Amino acid sequence: MPASQVLNDQELTAAWREGLEWRYATKKYDATKKVAPEVLEQLHHAVQMAPSSYGVQPYRAVIVTDPELRKTLRQAAWNQPQVTDATEIVVFAAKDNVSEEDVDVFIRDTAGQRGMSEDSLKAYRDIIVGDVVNGPRGKWSGEWAARQCYIALGFLLNAAMVHHVDATPMEGFDPAAFTKILELDKLGYHAVVMCAIGYRAHDDWLAPLKKVRTPQERLFIRR
Ligand SMILES: Cc1cc2nc3c(=O)[nH]c(=O)nc-3n(C[C@H](O)[C@H](O)[C@H](O)COP(=O)(O)O)c2cc1C
Repeated sequence: MPASQVLNDQELTAAWREGLEWRYATKKYDATKKVAPEVLEQLHHAVQMAPSSYGVQPYRAVIVTDPELRKTLRQAAWNQPQVTDATEIVVFAAKDNVSEEDVDVFIRDTAGQRGMSEDSLKAYRDIIVGDVVNGPRGKWSGEWAARQCYIALGFLLNAAMVHHVDATPMEGFDPAAFTKILELDKLGYHAVVMCAIGYRAHDDWLAPLKKVRTPQERLFIRR
């Protein structure tokens, strides 16, 4: 498929069927092959549309394209070449502490996007605040927010797969260093996990290797 082509519905279905085998955590990207902006837009849309608990989306997705910044990040990521050679990297960053204000922003968005009054959402707002701010989850809302990041990551990986774009989920980095380098601490967020997006190099050693997975009879426990 030409790099710039956005798939139609039929092609998307076929790509999904084949994609589970086709995709792999790419180790070596072809730095000369860039994912087209309209394809990246599809992938970013998938991140936006990922579900989250209550719908609050207590995270940010930091799209890093700047080459110098990526060189610095690579040093804090076990020198993994994907950080500099992919078309872009997306760093998922969780809110340190989910606040009443965060919930209010979500309620305002909900009212605006659904054409409702904020007043009519007060009961829902109070449930969320009572749980993730003042309730038991409030004590670990940064961790709660981090879990949501992985769902958004999953959506990104899936979208990349159906668009035949290569992607690498990556935890192999120093989260504290990433948080500092990207100045996320100043915004009240911390780096959790990242994803490189691009096209595989023709000689990536991992590409031809068979996938290793837990057999279904062990993976699924039926009750
Ligand atoms: C949360 C997470 C973190 C990962 N971190 C890295 C990483 O830092 N570097 C890397 O090359 N692969 C990383 N991987 C890729 C896994 O090793 C890979 O997904 C797994 O071995 C399954 O292989 P496959 O994705 O090629 O099917 C990570 C995967 C996940 C889900």
